[in-house]
Amino acid sequence: MIDEYIPIALNTIQPNTCTGCNLYIKTRADVDIRYVLYCNGANALKDDKIKELIYNQIKFLFIRQSEEKLYLRYMESQLKLVIHDPAIDTNVKSKMVYNVAKSIMIDIFNDPRAGDNVERSKNWVSNTVEYVLNNKDATSTMLNMVSYDYYTYTHCVDVSVLGLLFAKYLRIGGRDMHNFGAGLLLHDIGKTEISINTLNKNGKLNESEYAEIKKHVECGHEILKGLGGLSEDSFYPVLHHHEKINGKGYPKGLKGNEIHDYGKIAAIIDVYDALTTKRPYSDARKPFPALQIMKEFMGEHFDETYFRSFVAFLGSRG
Ligand SMILES: [Fe+2]
Repeated sequence: MIDEYIPIALNTIQPNTCTGCNLYIKTRADVDIRYVLYCNGANALKDDKIKELIYNQIKFLFIRQSEEKLYLRYMESQLKLVIHDPAIDTNVKSKMVYNVAKSIMIDIFNDPRAGDNVERSKNWVSNTVEYVLNNKDATSTMLNMVSYDYYTYTHCVDVSVLGLLFAKYLRIGGRDMHNFGAGLLLHDIGKTEISINTLNKNGKLNESEYAEIKKHVECGHEILKGLGGLSEDSFYPVLHHHEKINGKGYPKGLKGNEIHDYGKIAAIIDVYDALTTKRPYSDARKPFPALQIMKEFMGEHFDETYFRSFVAFLGSRG
């Protein structure tokens, strides 16, 4: 694989901090493009070096794709500063919020029982809630970030982003948004216990495979309880996202208001995201056809009031 150079906005780097990845500047001589090392990843990018770049009207630095993970880990530590910086464009902020979550989820799916998983998730949710509540353009830019291709980890990020934006629309309070958002981000963590073959099977699942898939809900709950640090409310999106209003869901077959509000909302967003992303067995659907399928064929699965609000939310784009 070619190790491409990718641009990063200069103003996302705080003066005198160390990003951990080599930073390059792009130079051009006739048609020849070269990337010249500007700051070694082990060193801090000094204030005077940043001033020199600004003086030369350089707004972007470049990193190697193979080091993007290091840059995102750095961004994760700087997320609070980035989202509050008025000089940084909303698109850049939304992209950062989204990509940091993706990086966290990749780590969580690689090592679901790592000690800092809950802390990193809660930190991201707390910054994202602040960003979403205080930035009027956050909803439209964040909705554009939602993935087209389906991977379990991007699905978790998408469900959490959509859920937090919808929670803002519903005027669910900030503290509740924290618990709800963390539960959404981690709602499918139990899939790490399911065999890859069953998870990625291209075609109808047989009875025992379906039974195995269903286990991801309770496995997820067990993993999260074991990690500690999450509020009880954060467990509802995990435990109830496959329950259906008509009682035909799993794992418990809960009916109507036996399902927690967070579970009712999570169920809608979970299915909506799955329908609007590309799967091995189906193309990604546009929002309207996806909502139509949900209404016509799954009407009894979802809470009617939340479903109607969700349609209105997508129509208003926040
Ligand atoms: Fe699930």
